[in-house]
Parts: sequence; C-alpha cells; structure tokens
Amino acid sequence: MSLPPALIILFGTTGDLAQKKLYPALFALHQSGQLNPHTQILGIGRRDWQQSYYHEKIASSIRLSEPVPEDLLQSFTDRFTYYQMDITEHEAYPLLWQSMDDIERAGQTQGNRLYFLATAPDLFPLVSKQIGSRQNLHADSFRRLMIEKPFGQDLQSARSFNQELRSVFDENEIYRIDHYLGKEMLQNILILRFGNRLFEPAWNREHIDHIQISVLEPFGVEQRSGYYDRSGALRDMVQSHLLQLVALLTMNQPDSLQPDAVRDEKVRVLRKLRPFDRVSAARDVILAQYTTGSAMRAYRDERGIPEHSLTETYTAMQLWIDNERWQGVPIYIRTGKRLNQSVGKITIVFNQQDYLGMHNDRQANTLVIRIQPEEGIDLRFNIKKPGMTTEIEQARMNACQNCQRGAASPQAYEKLLHDALSGDLSLFTRWDEIEATWTLIDSIQSVRDELPLYYYPAGSQGPHAAERLISRDKKTWLDL
Ligand code: BG6
Repeated sequence: MSLPPALIILFGTTGDLAQKKLYPALFALHQSGQLNPHTQILGIGRRDWQQSYYHEKIASSIRLSEPVPEDLLQSFTDRFTYYQMDITEHEAYPLLWQSMDDIERAGQTQGNRLYFLATAPDLFPLVSKQIGSRQNLHADSFRRLMIEKPFGQDLQSARSFNQELRSVFDENEIYRIDHYLGKEMLQNILILRFGNRLFEPAWNREHIDHIQISVLEPFGVEQRSGYYDRSGALRDMVQSHLLQLVALLTMNQPDSLQPDAVRDEKVRVLRKLRPFDRVSAARDVILAQYTTGSAMRAYRDERGIPEHSLTETYTAMQLWIDNERWQGVPIYIRTGKRLNQSVGKITIVFNQQDYLGMHNDRQANTLVIRIQPEEGIDLRFNIKKPGMTTEIEQARMNACQNCQRGAASPQAYEKLLHDALSGDLSLFTRWDEIEATWTLIDSIQSVRDELPLYYYPAGSQGPHAAERLISRDKKTWLDL
C-alpha cells in the first residue's frame, strides 16, 4: 500500500547516515512501490553541490549495495532536490521556507512535512527550534520530526532539549529514533514472548537464571571521532540500543500493541532498573578502551581522538531489576568496538532442571535471539542420547529467519521511515523512556572518575575484566 505523500526535509543530507542508511532505505520504499509517487525529498547541506552531483552521490550510494536498473534509479533520484544552506544561520531559514512552499505548491505533497534531523547532534536543538516555529501551509496536513540519537548527553541536557522541543511540537509529532527498534528481531521479541504459551509462563525469576546481551562490533570509530569521543560506549550504545533491548525483554505484557500501551510498560520496567552507586559501579561496571592489536591502531591514535582520551570503547555491566518478576535475576550486557566478531544477540539461560537419576552432564535450556548478522531464534533443550544409554545430550532447534527469507527482511531505517510516514509511533522512543535510561547512565557517569579504565587489544575478544564480571558468578559469556 502506498504511504501518504509528503515533503521529506533531510537535514544533513551530505553526511554518513544519509549515504549509508537513509538513501538505501528510501530507495527500498521507492522500489517496492510504497513511497508515494508524489513524495519529494529536499536535502539540506552546507556544501556547494550541483543538483546533478547530488543525484549522482545518491545513485552511487544505492549502487554500492545492489545492482539496480538505471531507469529505476533515475526515477528515484528525480525525487531529490539539493538545498545549500548554513543551518546555524538564523537569517537563512526564511528562504528555506520559501523553497519548501514552492515545492509544495508545484507538487502534490498535500502539505505533509516529515523533517529528518541527521546532522551533528549539537545542532539538533537549534534546527528543531527553527522547524518548530514553522506551521504547515495546510491545516489538515501532518508535521512530523524524526530525530536521530543521541537525545542529549545526560539527563539534564536531554531534559532541556525535550522542553525546547515540546514548546514547539506536540509529543505525537516527535519521532525519536533508536534504529534498533526498527530491526526485525527486536520487533519479534514481544511476539515471541507473549505469543507463545511455551515461553510466557516461564519468563520470570522462577525459571530464568540470567540474561546475556552482547552487541559486539569489529569497526573502530571511523569518521565519527568528534562525536564518539564525547559519548563513549555507555552513551552511544547502552543508553539507547542496549537498554531498549533490556526493556523489551523484561517488560510486562501490554494491554494492546498500541504505541502508548507498549511504551507505558517499557517505561515501567526501565524505572525499576537499579541505579548504580559508588560501590556497585566499582563492582559491576567495566569500562575499557582498545589499544594496538591485529595490525590496527589504538583508539588514542585514531584521527581526531585526543592522545590522552579516557573514553571507553567497550563496556560490560551487571544490571538488576527490582520488581517481583525479576528480583535476583542478573542481566549481563556488553558492547564494544574493534572486537574479534560482529554479533548482536540475546541469550536467555533458564534454570537447571533437577531430574533425579539423570547423568549430571545436563545443561541449562537456552534461548538465543539472534539480532545480527543472522536473524533468528535458537532453542537448546535436553534429550536422551539415541541408543542403549540414558545419557543426555542437547538438541537444537534453530529458526534462522534471514536464512529462509534472505534480504526480504526490511532494514531498520526502511521500517522507521515507513512508520513515520504512516504516523505509527510504536517503534519510536517516548520522552519518559529517554528519561529513565539517562537516569541509569548518569548514575554511572557520576562516579566514573573512580572507575578503572581497562584496555584490550584491537581485534581481540575484549577486556579480561568482562570475563571476570560474569565468571565470579560461576557463569560465562556463552558463545552459542
Ligand atoms: C549507532 C552507534 O547508533 O549504532 C554506532 O552510534 C554503532 O556507534 C551503531 O556502530 C550500530 O548499529 P548497527 O545497526 O550496525 O548494529
């Protein structure tokens, strides 16, 4: 079904995110016929680019990922208009409004506007204030704002940014992006949990021993040293993606799949995350940075990184949720850059089953939710070894989703742009979720000067301290 027509105003059109994710995502919507034929995109950038050069940039970013017919590509790039401006200049905006009005009058976008902020994060408040001051031409058209993460640097900055936003936008016009929510397997978590009699009754401290979440990346900081050095893994990955995963895994069943019903339950559990104090942070939080290894340079030698930087490129921690369902169940999370693997997965480890008379080599049931690169669900359970024996062995049921469906699984940004155009807020974060996650991160940041910074060689499996964090509880990071 075709989405409503709109003018998409893309701030940061010459940046990395646009090239790597947004053009391919919009192209996928164009190719599948979902992007309305009247939808147009106004790309805003500071560089002095000709229209033809802009179109070629877009086309080459699409060609990078797949071979596509040139006429299809042409009809896609025809939707784009480049607009050069310095978005920090207040006086530049009236001309922009003029151009938008012109495009709207000439085209048939019905006055709908979807703004996308993909600029450097420190420009978000300034640009959104400008946009917010501008009402649509047509009364019954929509005005929506998609904002990339990070939403603030800590609770205080996030709160003041939010207040500014709310003074010019309604909450339901604000689409705060956490692109992990657009990933297929994250959308699957609620169905897996609440749609299966097998799992839902066992999804609590009675039956679950612990949960592990790992998002490990082989890449370094690439072109984003300025942003990354101010963020580090805690702010860049934990505040957003990893805590969203925790929320989806531990929330109670919502009354419905309506956006606010789901988000209410997420907030409820996020508020039950036990904040850290000086003692628990020292015991349960690991921060580390990569040094030289596997012929790759150290973080501090990366371009744009200060030589004495203390920013963490890796973090692991043990979390607790103080509610009836999860009391006493540790949640171990870890994420980092320049590691020896590329994987995103969740492992639910169930309690050991005591069954008298069995041999004692039995293992716990585990459920692995694979987020990337493979997408799927992998369940391990015990069976009798075939033959004249009572020995037990583990059997495996593996539902590999992208093995069966291949590239048919939409990419995260394709799904998010689709939902924003159709007005579905389910996969976007609400302010109170952001507030709860920054509260937890701030509890670590407030004592971080007292925490050691560990080191690990680039291309390794991460710091030994992360192994100790889990092995002291007689558990290990499972490589399933
Ligand atoms: C981004 C972070 O939000 O997510 C990056 O800023 C990180 O540092 C990226 O590399 C990971 O996303 P994905 O989809 O590649 O797992």
